[in-house]
Amino acid sequence: MSDKHHLRSRFEKNMDDLVRDYTASIPFDRRLYRQDIAGSIAHAKMLARQGIISDKDAELIVMGLVSIREEIEGGKLQFKAELEDIHMNIEARLAEKIGDVAGKLHSARSRNDQVALDLRLYARHAIAQTNASLKELQTALLDVAEANIDVALPGYTHLQRAQPVLLAHHFLAYLEMLQRDVERLKDCLKRTDVMPLGSGALAGVPYPIDRVSVAKELGFAEISRNSLDAVADRDFVVEYEAAAALTMMHLSRLAEELILWSSAEFGFVEMDDAYATGSSIMPQKKNPDVAELARGKTGRVYGHLVAMLTTLKGLPLAYNKDLQEDKEGFFDTVDTLNNTLRIFAAMVRTMTVNKERMLQAASDDVLLATDIADYLVRKGLPFREAHSVVASLTRHLIEKGMSFRGLTLEEYKAFSPLFDKDVFAITVASSLAARDVPGGTAPVRVKAALAEARERVAGH
Ligand code: ARG
Repeated sequence: MSDKHHLRSRFEKNMDDLVRDYTASIPFDRRLYRQDIAGSIAHAKMLARQGIISDKDAELIVMGLVSIREEIEGGKLQFKAELEDIHMNIEARLAEKIGDVAGKLHSARSRNDQVALDLRLYARHAIAQTNASLKELQTALLDVAEANIDVALPGYTHLQRAQPVLLAHHFLAYLEMLQRDVERLKDCLKRTDVMPLGSGALAGVPYPIDRVSVAKELGFAEISRNSLDAVADRDFVVEYEAAAALTMMHLSRLAEELILWSSAEFGFVEMDDAYATGSSIMPQKKNPDVAELARGKTGRVYGHLVAMLTTLKGLPLAYNKDLQEDKEGFFDTVDTLNNTLRIFAAMVRTMTVNKERMLQAASDDVLLATDIADYLVRKGLPFREAHSVVASLTRHLIEKGMSFRGLTLEEYKAFSPLFDKDVFAITVASSLAARDVPGGTAPVRVKAALAEARERVAGH
């Protein structure tokens, strides 16, 4: 058993090794070292400003902390499980470096408000990273949409060919989903950007501290209003994880489409070799593994959200050790989401768009059935009747193994006298152009939507 340290001075026995490892968070909260050191530096400076410790002591503490950060970044600090967590590991190292003065850093502070601060600093950083990655993917979607502005493909409902749409319109749908994700994260930031230090263990601290100046130093928008809530609150973790779950759901839908589109049955896109793998026994295979894995990883991100909600459910105020369970799921969510976004941006950018296959599929003239019904409506037929005329026309074509294109005007007229030779002007292009409404797939609308989306993405 390792050395007893001061946290155990109340106890007669040392901790069992298994219990030590069970309760330690250092294997994963070491990731918070930068936030922990930044928070401690701000705290030490404030203590000196308020005359709670001397300027000289604060200087020593700050210098010590800066050199510990360098040690950690150089891989030179050995973390110890018996020191439980990142906070104790850094504090113990500080004591080795500067002696008893190190003990003054923890005046007017508890690990409970310290860990809340560290996690909020980390979450703030994670939100910024995720927003940057969302922007990267949005930009890639816009670039591919613009490069293929003349490409139409079938739009589907029930995965059945429905009406032609522009590929750019299709990608702009994903851009909107990601835009909502950006806004959700921005909103989550408001409740994350709150400084909890000064709450102490749970009740506040009996020192003349200046919380607002610490918040300012660390760039927080505001300070927490209730000490009990501040050390017990992990809503911001739940909010990030919920936003992440939604983004992963969006990415999973995109993944699913790209996987389908990569199949021989669709043949709409081909992933670049860097984003696909081969099969160990079937030499012809090129699997869209990256997209599949992203679809699969969506499950673990949902899992982290449910795990966090479950951990918080029924927890009495204020801090409880259960809260230590907030970190692994959160870190994994941040990593999974940010990596998936970045990889998707590159994957979308490098995939080959098979324009010919898309246009060929779009020229399946059953896609024009609605337009032919709309044609009859323009000639005065109520839409429901027009629908039924075109339905019997379609049934006739299927029986004969024909398409609209093969019909003569006489054949059209046999189904409705309203048909005239201008029915032949109905094409994929006319179908697209006709959907000239805000949010529609008419090329003029899509071009305007692209320009507008560019501006929105540049603005965040
Ligand atoms: N490692 C702990 C955590 O992650 C830090 C806070 C510990 N506080 C306590 N009273 N034991 O939650």
